Amino acid sequence: MVDTSVNLCGITLQNPVIPASGTFGFGLEMAEFYDLNVLGAIAIKGTTVAPRLGNPSPRIAECTQGLLNSIGLQNPGAEQVVKEEIPNLRMHFRQPIIGNICGFSVDDYRECCRIVAPNVDLVELNISCPNVHNGGMAFGTTERGAAEVVTAVRDVCDRPLFVKLSPNVTDIVSIAKTCENAGADGLTLINTLLGMRIDIRRRVPVLAQKMGGFSGPAVFPVALRMVYQVHKVCSLPIIGCGGVQSAEDVIEMMMAGATAVQVGSENLRNPYACPDIIKHLPERMKQLKINNLNQIIGIIE
Ligand code: FUM
Repeated sequence: MVDTSVNLCGITLQNPVIPASGTFGFGLEMAEFYDLNVLGAIAIKGTTVAPRLGNPSPRIAECTQGLLNSIGLQNPGAEQVVKEEIPNLRMHFRQPIIGNICGFSVDDYRECCRIVAPNVDLVELNISCPNVHNGGMAFGTTERGAAEVVTAVRDVCDRPLFVKLSPNVTDIVSIAKTCENAGADGLTLINTLLGMRIDIRRRVPVLAQKMGGFSGPAVFPVALRMVYQVHKVCSLPIIGCGGVQSAEDVIEMMMAGATAVQVGSENLRNPYACPDIIKHLPERMKQLKINNLNQIIGIIE
């Protein structure tokens, strides 16, 4: 018998596998495929104070080994999320729920967190969405912006506060350190890489917004590298995210320094991605002589 449980700031997850925000809706729509209770936790769709329809279409573009999205934080707004979406999910799901908080100003982030935090188990502060013109990634790409949002949200957040960072920076380590110093309890690494595709027949960008966030298997080595670099200098727990497709990827991400792992784009290709990974994880652990996943977190020198 191997032990797949991990602990994020005092919250025990039965396994480290979490569907990433934005790839699993508010959870319930996936309940028709399998019993969600096999998951370690669920990260729900990025939530803003006001409801949003998101960006105009086309807002998805296929790429080799991944996809671009420019959804634009489509969500029903914080009040509706806590009144309908989270209670509906809780009726089917007994594991921890991670709320993903987005905003367009520091006050926005604070207000959204004030509404959502008491209704979830852990907060993921999203300062890395590349698909909105104000806010989002604009806060996560400077130390000053990151510090401002984390500080403002900290005192209205009575849940473990994880900050989801953008890879679209020169030095991820300095942004991570800034978040740690501003009071974050943990980090999620990474959100999508800013990318673009062009329709060469029509001579126009494929996405209506021209650019979008690139995710999928192609970004796995980048995410892994960032988790490794940040783990070396920060003492905060890390949720690794980016191109994870298999139990082997989960183990690799944990060896680099992640305590838990989010699965994103793979859910869109295979709705059973998370339960498949969870099923294979114990077998791979046994083959690799890992009795307890906590033994491998950050073991790479
Ligand atoms: O456009 C979006 O809704 C994406 C959000 C994100 O990358 O955090």
